[in-house]
Amino acid sequence: MSKKAFIGVYGCQMNIADAERMEGVLKTLGYNRVNEMQEADLIILNTCCVRETAEDKVYGKIGEIKHLKQQNPRLIFGITGCMAQKEGEALIKRAPHIDFVLGTGRVAELGNVVGQLEDEQIQHFVDTTMDDAVEAASRMPVEREGTLSAWVPIMYGCNNFCTYCIVPYVRGRERSRRAEEILSEVRDAAAKGYKEITLLGQNVNSYGNDQEGFMSFAELLKAVDEVEGIERVRYMTSHPKDLSDEVIEAVKNGRHICEHFHIPVQYGTDKLLKRMNRKYTVAQYKALVGRIRSSVPNASITTDLIVGFPGETEEDFKGMLDFLSEIRYDAAYTFIYSPRTGTPAADMPDQVPEEVKKDRLHKLMDVQNEISLAINEKLVGSDTEVLVEGPSRTDKSVWTGRTRTSKIVLWPYEGNEQPGELRRVHITQAQTWLLKGKLAE
Ligand code: SAH
Ligand code: SF4
Ligand code: F3S
Repeated sequence: MSKKAFIGVYGCQMNIADAERMEGVLKTLGYNRVNEMQEADLIILNTCCVRETAEDKVYGKIGEIKHLKQQNPRLIFGITGCMAQKEGEALIKRAPHIDFVLGTGRVAELGNVVGQLEDEQIQHFVDTTMDDAVEAASRMPVEREGTLSAWVPIMYGCNNFCTYCIVPYVRGRERSRRAEEILSEVRDAAAKGYKEITLLGQNVNSYGNDQEGFMSFAELLKAVDEVEGIERVRYMTSHPKDLSDEVIEAVKNGRHICEHFHIPVQYGTDKLLKRMNRKYTVAQYKALVGRIRSSVPNASITTDLIVGFPGETEEDFKGMLDFLSEIRYDAAYTFIYSPRTGTPAADMPDQVPEEVKKDRLHKLMDVQNEISLAINEKLVGSDTEVLVEGPSRTDKSVWTGRTRTSKIVLWPYEGNEQPGELRRVHITQAQTWLLKGKLAE
């Protein structure tokens, strides 16, 4: 009888991609992935620690699992991902019902560890040494979650050390995968029917910089664009300081590379950008947006924003709102600054009170939502290409897909559309986060 594994995934796409590799390894041990924790013989939480709220969610789940462990002492329970890397042994001290903790560089050990715990050769296991995740990725089989879109890690780690961010501490320095391996993974996904590839890394633009003789990110994008069967190529995330004109050209001239630039600005004033160690100025960023818009006029541009960073004054915040009104992003992911122990910003003076942070977040979202809606409203009346995904989660008679610019589109099901097809949709209605329409032909 097959065993059942539950893998809870928190945080970013990198964690989704890692979980797909864990599932691949677990399959070789006879596990099938299940959606209910209660059914599982093995529970893994693949965790995130980018903000305190992410950690709180995981600690809540760890508490729930204590009861499951009491009911079923044979249940194996492990923590992987960024919190595992950050906390290590301390997690087991805090919650002794955790059987193993594997850091971000040690995912390839998962099979061995689970095997030994099953055989009761070991009681507990903790390893957070920073091994080479690059090699691990190529060794581990992949069980992808979806059937249309494939996540393909191209590099691990980050060298940027933005002063608020924990990622470089829990993911290590930048390590790029070999292009041949990436391309063979892409070809394999295409052969299995995947239509969309998203190349993943904390800072994809610096792909290859850590190795002698590797191709540039723009060259890699062009190579992926050529793979037979792939209809859409996406990537994330791009650090604005490294997004080259070569990449913009690749998007402009590419056949399948999507016209969407996610370029997290984080803040809209030079003072805060400097304190955040982002290594660009507002003027440089605006010039980048100008280059994108002149080369790829129909591109969507999205961003990440942080409010309540230490030292942010009302005047700074006003500068941020003005900046948003000037740039006019299609969408923004907005976050309240969360101090992370061990990062420089956590020790900076002038931390902003929680109520002020929340108030600023709401004001920021109001301004951005109005802009997003206005941009989407301009699309009403136009036809756009969507990659058909399938029925929407809440209403089976409504189908959903995405535009090349990464906007969600909903339309009434007509009976002949198939997941994975490219279809044209006539847009009839706009909302802040999505578009509605009907099939155009
Ligand atoms: N490497 C990517 C993503 C990093 S994490 C990048 O550089 O864009 C995703 C987002 O989380 C960041 O863009 C940032 O906006 C946010 N973030 C990171 N650390 C944070 C913190 N301590 N508090 C609040 N938001 C944070
Ligand atoms: Fe964090 Fe900055 Fe690296 Fe992004 S670029 S992961 S925000 S340190
Ligand atoms: Fe979170 Fe780690 Fe991603 S901290 S955002 S899961 S890299």
